[in-house]
Amino acid sequence: MFAASQIILVTGASSGIGRAIALECNAQGATVLACGRDDLKLDEGRKAAHAPERWTSIRRDFFEHMEKIPQWLHEISQRHGRLWGMACAAGEGLMDSMQAYSLATARRHFDLNFHVPLLLAKGFCDRRVSVKGGALLFVSSASAVFPEKGHLIYGAAKAALTAAARSISQEVAPRGLRVHCLSPGIVDTPMQEKAEALMGPEYRQSQLQEYPFGFGRPEDVAHMAAFLLSDKAAWITGQNFVLAGGRY
Ligand SMILES: NC(=O)c1ccc[n+]([C@@H]2O[C@H](COP(=O)([O-])OP(=O)(O)OC[C@H]3O[C@@H](n4cnc5c(N)ncnc54)[C@H](OP(=O)(O)O)[C@@H]3O)[C@@H](O)[C@H]2O)c1
Repeated sequence: MFAASQIILVTGASSGIGRAIALECNAQGATVLACGRDDLKLDEGRKAAHAPERWTSIRRDFFEHMEKIPQWLHEISQRHGRLWGMACAAGEGLMDSMQAYSLATARRHFDLNFHVPLLLAKGFCDRRVSVKGGALLFVSSASAVFPEKGHLIYGAAKAALTAAARSISQEVAPRGLRVHCLSPGIVDTPMQEKAEALMGPEYRQSQLQEYPFGFGRPEDVAHMAAFLLSDKAAWITGQNFVLAGGRY
């Protein structure tokens, strides 16, 4: 699907969905720059990769020097070459309620789930950073489309991201860049494990009833992500794809 000259940066590549996207793009021939905070987990990813020689791990905590993210991407492109694609999967879940709402928590989650992907997009869409024909992919959430109880802030941040993705797609289309949004329902990852630990065992059972095909695996999202990042999706941009095992 990809040539080795097609460089794809994946955030959140140390775990769950981001890791699966990085592994799938690597298996499909791309050179992957895998970003995360945890060196050990990134290294496990490299060992699991189909072609470890086309996997470079990059440690970065996006809460540090957030405003320098566009510049950081420029430095990366100078070091590794201009990027064909970028998948923004780094994120954090949150179960909250109206009564528990706090400005500090909301700001933290909007920072990571909305402002960080936008700063990454700003950097990626710079002509010095990305190549014509390439693609940007945001991992949003089905919570943006059908937010359940407890997804007050998380769902709102992802809905903002989904709307922004469409707007960016219009802005960068003349440059030949595509922008995609994937909105998964529940996928079994460490993030989901944390939510279940917090909400108790009944939570999983009650949620499962909403999913005719059960919860997703990270690979279910990764296959679609790799397709959208590739030039097989050359005529697709500005769309939000909900992947939710039959839930609607
Ligand atoms: N799982 C689901 O049910 C589900 C459903 C819909 C959407 N999503 C979205 O899918 C994306 C991936 O989620 P996941 O389920 O795969 O979660 P996960 O397994 O917990 O992975 C989260 C990833 O984000 C990275 N990350 C978190 N905070 C970061 C920060 N401050 N700076 C840099 N990286 C940071 C983590 O890095 P470290 O591991 O190095 O800390 C990790 O690689 C998220 O955007 C999430 O909102 C998930």
